[in-house]
Amino acid sequence: MKFFVDTAEVDAIAELNDYGLLDGVTTNPSLIAKSGRDFKEVIAEICALVEGPVSAEVASTEFDGMVAEGEHLAKIADNVVIKLPLTLDGLKACRHFTAKGIKTNVTLCFSANQALLAAKAGATFISPFIGRLDDLNIDGMELIEEIRAIYDNYGFETEILAASIRSANHVKDCAIAGADVATIPPAVIKGLANHALTDKGLAAFVKDWAATGQSIL
Ligand code: E4P
Repeated sequence: MKFFVDTAEVDAIAELNDYGLLDGVTTNPSLIAKSGRDFKEVIAEICALVEGPVSAEVASTEFDGMVAEGEHLAKIADNVVIKLPLTLDGLKACRHFTAKGIKTNVTLCFSANQALLAAKAGATFISPFIGRLDDLNIDGMELIEEIRAIYDNYGFETEILAASIRSANHVKDCAIAGADVATIPPAVIKGLANHALTDKGLAAFVKDWAATGQSIL
């Protein structure tokens, strides 16, 4: 499963990229607003840092506006992916960009039928939002399983990009369910490396090694 980071904070992206943990980046208008920075400037900086796909979301909700904005964003860098909402206009824009060879990420997916439509529109990625479904006491992971089954039934190449991930268990369950990608907040990615027994075991090894008085170098 590929790891994308879900943030518009360039420093956090650079740090994770240095660890070799990043396959791509997703942003959204809320994350851009939170960063307080210029959208196109941030996307250009991220694209220069990360080799993989970088999702940049259109702001328009009408087809013509999405196409104009998406074509503008696509010129920023070769790895820009145009992020479009899962509406009829968004699906039409998805078909437009796919026909032009521009990658797309269809976002705000909350049902298997929506994911089916996105695949039929030729989306590169579909983004089902797990956490926001869980918030409503609807099992978000079940949606990932349903989409996996549907895409496998028909051989759709659209990649399942599990989004709205809130915890380490979400990441594990996405991997078990067969999501192609998970887009994860920076703190959750870093937290995946943590285990109390790792810390305890390492402390013991450090202490015992010091007692030997030896040096490896
Ligand atoms: C995905 O592309 C979205 O940016 C993101 O995962 C939404 O997450 P949230 O529900 O935590 O805002």
